[in-house]
Amino acid sequence: MKPLTPSGPHARPEHEQSAPKLMFFGDPHGDLEPVIAAVERFRPEAIILLGDIQARQPLHIELRPILNITEVAWIPGNHDTDSNGDFDHLFGSELSDRNLHGRIVEIAGYKVAGLGGIFRSKIWDPRRPIEEAAFQSSDAMRRTMKREERWRDGISRKHRSSIFPDEYQRLLRSGPADILVTHEAPSAHPHGWQVIDELAEKLGVQLVVHGHHHRCIDYVGEGLMTTAAPFRAFGVDMGSHLAWPRSPQEAAGLESPPQDLLNLATQVFGGATEAWLNKPHELLDGQTPAAFAAGGGSDKVRSILNAIQHGGVV
Ligand SMILES: [Fe+2]
Repeated sequence: MKPLTPSGPHARPEHEQSAPKLMFFGDPHGDLEPVIAAVERFRPEAIILLGDIQARQPLHIELRPILNITEVAWIPGNHDTDSNGDFDHLFGSELSDRNLHGRIVEIAGYKVAGLGGIFRSKIWDPRRPIEEAAFQSSDAMRRTMKREERWRDGISRKHRSSIFPDEYQRLLRSGPADILVTHEAPSAHPHGWQVIDELAEKLGVQLVVHGHHHRCIDYVGEGLMTTAAPFRAFGVDMGSHLAWPRSPQEAAGLESPPQDLLNLATQVFGGATEAWLNKPHELLDGQTPAAFAAGGGSDKVRSILNAIQHGGVV
């Protein structure tokens, strides 16, 4: 459960680091202490909870110690509809208007799109065409239910955390955005979904961050995605967090290295290209070639590659 903040020999000392703009927190499952401790320590501009919050008291009471330090936003997870308490402490709290599900909100200078909940085949199996979904909307489902079958005169509590096609499609049309937060994972995860990738690409986001799977994953770092992919993706474990941006290069933008540089790196390193691009380099102030190039340093990375390929001095 190691946070995805920079660590190791290339990390700056904590006192030299500026406060992160955003911190994303993995599924709290009722324990908000790590969230409070991290916010008090790092003092981010805003935080986003990635679902499965299951607050034991109303969320604004749980987070009272930090509400004057940071802005709070959240998406729901599948477990946030497990009990009336889970539901009411989140959707009925004074932070209910900070639900990002199905919309785009400007947070800490980023346009953040949210897709909470999970796919349930009783509603929509996203491996099937969207028009074949059993229900296009929660309203459509509600209309099929007898009054006595309803929960609080609507669909069942469980399906309040299911993703309905109309919510997905409305979000798809609401772009552009900078960041997409989801409870479900993108397709690079063994249990992820292609429709999350399609949403990210349509919105034009540079970053996707998800919860649900209880594992910290840097998809590029682990070789599950390449730096040429249209967005970076991270999973965040329960009790852990991802601080953003992670470096001045990421603050400047997440542009991928230019294609000619990727081609050159492939010529030089072949199958080891990803490993080289994502390993901190001593000639690049300890940054990775991928981050250095993305931050405007392509020429220096190119000269290193040329020196390796042809010999000579960088
Ligand atoms: Fe979950």
